[in-house]
Amino acid sequence: MSNQITNIIEGIKDSLSFGSKGIFGLDIGLSAVKVAQIEKSGSDDDPVYTLSKYASVSLPEGAIIEDEIQKKEEIVEAIKEAVSTAGIKDNTVCLGLTGPNTVVKRLQLPGGDEEEVEDQVLWEAEQYLPFDIENSSIAFHIVGENEGGGLDVVVGAARNDIIQNFSDLAKEAGLKVKIVDLGMLSVINAFEYIEEEKFGEVTESYLVLDLGAQKTSFMIYKNNTVIFTKEVNVGGVMITEEIQRQMGVNYFEAEDLKITGDESGNLPEEILAIIDDVIEAFFSEIKKTMDFYVSSTSDESLAAVFITGGSVQIPGVLEGLEALLGVEVSVINPFEKIEYNTKKINEEDIEDIAYKGVSAIGLAMRSV
Ligand SMILES: Nc1ncnc2c1ncn2[C@@H]1O[C@H](COP(=O)(O)OP(=O)(O)OP(=O)(O)O)[C@@H](O)[C@H]1O
Ligand SMILES: [Mg+2]
Repeated sequence: MSNQITNIIEGIKDSLSFGSKGIFGLDIGLSAVKVAQIEKSGSDDDPVYTLSKYASVSLPEGAIIEDEIQKKEEIVEAIKEAVSTAGIKDNTVCLGLTGPNTVVKRLQLPGGDEEEVEDQVLWEAEQYLPFDIENSSIAFHIVGENEGGGLDVVVGAARNDIIQNFSDLAKEAGLKVKIVDLGMLSVINAFEYIEEEKFGEVTESYLVLDLGAQKTSFMIYKNNTVIFTKEVNVGGVMITEEIQRQMGVNYFEAEDLKITGDESGNLPEEILAIIDDVIEAFFSEIKKTMDFYVSSTSDESLAAVFITGGSVQIPGVLEGLEALLGVEVSVINPFEKIEYNTKKINEEDIEDIAYKGVSAIGLAMRSV
């Protein structure tokens, strides 16, 4: 291996890693900053996770666009507020990254010794990464041997400047970044633990969707691993923006109208009409991605769909996805499996955490 490749691999192992101890999860989304801390008990084979601390703090409009930080001060303040509201005393985090300059991909490699596998990962990465490999960090995790005798590997990669910029936010909030993880992997991590008992044959595939504010993460889980991912550019903020435009209100007013409706808690006709229009765009993008996945892999074994993210609550999403994909769709409920500390977490926040907190929970689980 050339020196440069060795350096990249070493750098990568430091910055993107698959496991460590004693820290909390930090998820910086478009709409809010979320922090979560998990305690683990039980055995390694049969762990019991308890959500011990959690908080979410809203961000102002357009704080991050794709992965470009627009409102640094506000995000730093929101991180500080989230940590103090949650009552978190530690200062090391597992930070989740998302956006167009991150990649999660399953590779099927010929295999060999450690060095050979690293070489194969790098060679493959160079072919498919949508950004320059020299300035990015890559980590991989060997899932197991595949039928052909080769290795199945999940690779995570992120551009270094993105890692740097997001780490700086945490640092300015007085935190140390111990692990950098990818948002999609953290969702899969939590999903796998929460829904495991519902899995059928390993050859069946499951679609996992994280319907956020600015994007929808599309992930296919099969053979005990994530085998396909795509970030789809549809999210709840499209509805918010349309409400702003059509009704002449500001971002927070529009969010409020969308989420709570009018004084009596009903969604006015105008808003329902906007929602109907925008979710058509959601469905069409998701269908396109599903069709692409099926045509490029010939995998027709979709058994069920699991959804998470705040935009899951948009009226008609669940039913619409069922009609679109022809399989059962259910919302991931972390509290079917994960316990929570009733002294630290309010009962009335549970529903909100269940919808929006899965990524932060997955990041927190990574750290125990
Ligand atoms: N009751 C509701 N009805 C419709 N939409 C809702 C509801 N509650 C929250 N949302 C929407 O969910 C979105 C926030 O979800 P989430 O917290 O998962 O996104 P995020 O992580 O901040 O964004 P991203 O991951 O895309 O950066 C917002 O667009 C918000 O308007
Ligand atoms: Mg999110």
